[in-house]
Amino acid sequence: MENFEPGIIAFVCNWCTYTAADLAGTSRKKYPANVRLIRVMCTGMVDPKYILKAFLEGADAVLVSGCHPGDCHYINGNYKARRRIKLLHEILPNFSIEKERLRLTWIGASDGIMFADTIDTMVDQVKKLGPLTQDKRMVI
Ligand code: FES
Repeated sequence: MENFEPGIIAFVCNWCTYTAADLAGTSRKKYPANVRLIRVMCTGMVDPKYILKAFLEGADAVLVSGCHPGDCHYINGNYKARRRIKLLHEILPNFSIEKERLRLTWIGASDGIMFADTIDTMVDQVKKLGPLTQDKRMVI
């Protein structure tokens, strides 16, 4: 597994984490190319089915990242996301999927460095976990 490069799908809120990712880029703060960003208008619109589908279709890990509590542009979308992720954290181990493969973070628009550090950390953690094997995907 020395050469394992995890694939990470990141659902990022347009108003904060997407902007932070953009800021990381324009600030020339490097982060691993393992992540594919999916820009959403709010983390509250990230249906748990999207997350399961990401795992099913090859993601080794999924990140959902949005506005800090109290800063959601749609009032309570990030609280909804937090409840959903908590529920998925309880469900995923039943499918032998480590809950560390799904992460929720709050990263504001000015936190470009935090975004890059989050991706760095997540890639390291998923490398330690290893790839999400096909047999685990089959039981979802
Ligand atoms: S608008 Fe960013 S999480 Fe809701």
